[in-house]
Amino acid sequence: MTEEAFDVMVVGSCMTDLVCRGPRLPKEGETIHGQEFFTGFGGKGANQCIQAARLGARAIMVCKVGEDSYGDRYIQNFKDNSVHAEFVWRTSAAATGIASIIMVNDEGKNLIMIVAGANMLLSGAELQGVLPALRLSKVLVCQLEISPEASLQALRLARHNQVTTIFNPAPAVPDLDPEFYRTSDVFCCNESEAELLTGLQVSSVEDGRQAGQELLRRGCGSVIVTLGHQGCVVLKAQEAAAHHIPTTPVTPLDTTGAGDSFIGALAFYMARYPTMQLEEMARRANRVAGFSVQKAGTQTSFYNKTELPKDLF
Ligand code: RIB
Repeated sequence: MTEEAFDVMVVGSCMTDLVCRGPRLPKEGETIHGQEFFTGFGGKGANQCIQAARLGARAIMVCKVGEDSYGDRYIQNFKDNSVHAEFVWRTSAAATGIASIIMVNDEGKNLIMIVAGANMLLSGAELQGVLPALRLSKVLVCQLEISPEASLQALRLARHNQVTTIFNPAPAVPDLDPEFYRTSDVFCCNESEAELLTGLQVSSVEDGRQAGQELLRRGCGSVIVTLGHQGCVVLKAQEAAAHHIPTTPVTPLDTTGAGDSFIGALAFYMARYPTMQLEEMARRANRVAGFSVQKAGTQTSFYNKTELPKDLF
């Protein structure tokens, strides 16, 4: 068992991403020619963990992969990125998770289908075993690419042990257990997730504010609704006003994983700059994610601290 202190623990998913780039996304029933195919390391949990580590966080990943070559390669990927992989469990009962379809068009927009496989088998008993390391962590990050019960258990354990929580309800489900809101210090979602969760349409900054207020009412400490090129809105339980954080305009090549880059960066700032205002953290995380959308792929597009402007640190 580890005795080290961690900035960021992620309890979440690993996927191998199979990515096709083409001029546009096909319509239902249609076949079109694409231009490029590549594989990469993905999964929202691992992406967020790796972005935090690349910014300088001491990061630890808790997840499950299969007894297959994708699992072998993923464990090596954590080591290559200085992420602690002591709690990367393995199973022969399912394959390592895969994002078997990621399609990216010329505008950098994407659609994704995942088969979570081994990710869904992370158990409550395994999470219990992680408790000593969780107690030594500053921030816990969870998403919904593992079983919701496992995510919720991790959030509860963090809460009981005064570890700050970030919850990213992705992929979103309409009937999210209300306890997710109450166990989230920061509840961070994008436009489509906010829409599904609240039933409100979210396309403008004002829509983001209204959806954020509804989510805040459900018991979160703070809410961040990310709005792509429109930046994000930040709402805090103790403040009436919502803050709009705009982004610097960039030309996107590939937006896949931009939300994960944002959340990984947010976790890094929350762990390393505990006195910084959440709005400033969101502003900086927006900039980190803005760099990532200008490169192709998911983790391949995430920058290291040394490659980023010094004023981000
Ligand atoms: O958020 C992007 C990620 O979603 C991809 O890496 C893919 O694996 C899916 O989990």
